Amino acid sequence: MKNKVLFIVTIVVVFLLGLLASSIINRKSEAKYKYVPQVDIGENEVKNEVWGENYPKEYQSWLQTSESSFASYQGGSAMRDMLEEDPRLVVLWAGYGFAKDYNQGRGHYYAVEDIHNSLRTGGPKGPGDGPMPATCWTCKSPDVPRLMDENGIAEFYSGKWADKGPEVTNPIGCADCHDPKSMKLHITRPALVEAFDAMGRDINKATHQEMRSLVCAQCHVEYYFNKDLPGKEGIPYLVFPWKDGMSVEEMEGYYDDLGFSDWTHKISRAPMLKAQHPGYETYLTGVHADRGVSCADCHMPYKSEGGQKFTDHHLQSPLNNIANSCQVCHRQEAAKLMENVYERQRKTTENRLKLEDLLVRTHIEAGKAWELGATEEQMKEILIDIRHAQWRWDYAAAAHGASFHSPVETARVIGGGMNIAQEARIKLARLLADLGHNEPVPVPDITTKRKAQEFIGLDMEQLTQEKEEFKKTLLPKWLKEVQAREIHADEEEVSMNKK
Ligand code: HEC
Ligand code: HEC
Ligand code: HEC
Ligand code: HEC
Repeated sequence: MKNKVLFIVTIVVVFLLGLLASSIINRKSEAKYKYVPQVDIGENEVKNEVWGENYPKEYQSWLQTSESSFASYQGGSAMRDMLEEDPRLVVLWAGYGFAKDYNQGRGHYYAVEDIHNSLRTGGPKGPGDGPMPATCWTCKSPDVPRLMDENGIAEFYSGKWADKGPEVTNPIGCADCHDPKSMKLHITRPALVEAFDAMGRDINKATHQEMRSLVCAQCHVEYYFNKDLPGKEGIPYLVFPWKDGMSVEEMEGYYDDLGFSDWTHKISRAPMLKAQHPGYETYLTGVHADRGVSCADCHMPYKSEGGQKFTDHHLQSPLNNIANSCQVCHRQEAAKLMENVYERQRKTTENRLKLEDLLVRTHIEAGKAWELGATEEQMKEILIDIRHAQWRWDYAAAAHGASFHSPVETARVIGGGMNIAQEARIKLARLLADLGHNEPVPVPDITTKRKAQEFIGLDMEQLTQEKEEFKKTLLPKWLKEVQAREIHADEEEVSMNKK
């Protein structure tokens, strides 16, 4: 009996000791968990490193978008001077900013730095100065949704690029794609929401898989600045021209109906359209989109580290990561898949370059016709042809990755462009003959970027000087203002915490 009682008491004591031990262990691990710096991410938190405190793996991989050493046949993150590689572009863009400077896109990390350095943004001397509107910041930074939230959307699009220089400083990051509270993917750019509205669709009904592409469609799309929106006249308001559809013909029809042009060509005087980068639109016409493969599936594949699976935020050319980007679905060797991509790109390039040659000729022949006294009436149809042909070329060329994302559609668009350019040249040959010129119009030597820029009359020395001046004077001022603002914000936070 005595033994029995002792036995029960022992069991109870052991049980209680066990409880105590487990509670101590729990407390300890709680304490350890609490020790992890957990920050409360504010509604308008723009600093990627702050988000990074909560999500170190995603942040660390995002930081890798600063790598710029990978070069593939056509893409990659390495700096490439596209005008040097293909000086024809200078002639195609005569009279437009892209003829001054056009480099291969780099990682998101550089979005702000690269637009500071581009000759296209000129050398503003202060607020209200320079060639570009504030709207040009829209696809560069999470400061954009912050400013739109603080001051209003139309207010953000108002004024010059230089006006917002001290405000837009953090490169594309977490707040561009994520809701800070739920971390769900969300759309921060009103232009995409408005474009869906215009198509009679509700972007809030997009599926999770669609969102994995739509976050990219905030920026990797065709767009223009509409200065005639009712109630917002004069403000270069960002619009995606999707109301009638996203194909090359539908967007062209939209612009034609509007009588919109981005610029007047310096040589041919054609009312030109600049395709921006209709990456999302062209992707939608490809087989991967058809099978429900999203941008993130290839450009942000899953990755494992220390037994933890997460989304690789090193957005880059998937050819630098074929194992994770392609081989989760395809069983072929990496070299084979690479060759599949290159083959599509090479074949597309073959005809794209032929179309470029044709376009260079049409501009120069049209210039000759003006020189010989052609009338507006005689030139009208020809100039529309040039507009349409070059729009097709640009739609195919500027949609980075399109020759892989959708090779058949891209080939169709380039084929259409070649046909229209040839039509223009037949009309030009007749007109030139009528004007007494019955022989080929010579194309000057445009074999280097410098020669081509000279030919179209760009004063590169002055443009470069203005840029250097900007980098020496105004840019450091912007960076100082940012520093001052951030120190002030930190102090405010500290004083709030003290309260
Ligand atoms: C099936 C996989 C796949 C899908 C889906 C996909 N891409 Fe790509 N993307 C590629 C490949 C492959 C390239 C070619 C890379 C190269 O040439 O180095 C590429 C190229 C690009 C480039 C040019 C990159 C560079 O380094 O020049 C951009 C930008 C891009 N894609 C954006 C997108 C966007 C935005 C979407 C969705 C709308 C998308 N991609 C969907 C595989 C994909
Ligand atoms: C260009 C858009 C984009 C940017 C910028 C971006 N993300 Fe993501 N993020 C995604 C996508 C797409 C996913 C996959 C979401 C899904 O399928 O649910 C994702 C997933 C995540 C997840 C969920 C867990 C995981 O790894 O899948 C976390 C956490 C996250 N991102 C954190 C961040 C942080 C931190 C930053 C900034 C350093 C950031 N993201 C920047 C698009 C983005
Ligand atoms: C806020 C606008 C924005 C969003 C959102 C965005 N991008 Fe970009 N992306 C850019 C800009 C701008 C560049 C060029 C940066 C530079 O050259 O400095 C770029 C460059 C790229 C490149 C080229 C990088 C390289 O190393 O070659 C790829 C690939 C790319 N983006 C894919 C995507 C994908 C996929 C998504 C969606 C998951 C996405 N982007 C979302 C604006 C954006
Ligand atoms: C999420 C799955 C998935 C991923 C990731 C993926 N693919 Fe595909 N791919 C498909 C499917 C599905 C098809 C359509 C063919 C089919 O149904 O068998 C396809 C078709 C193709 C084709 C033939 C289409 C054509 O243009 O003629 C090529 C080439 C290809 N993929 C290459 C790649 C490469 C390269 C990558 C990585 C950059 C990649 N794929 C990533 C699923 C995927």
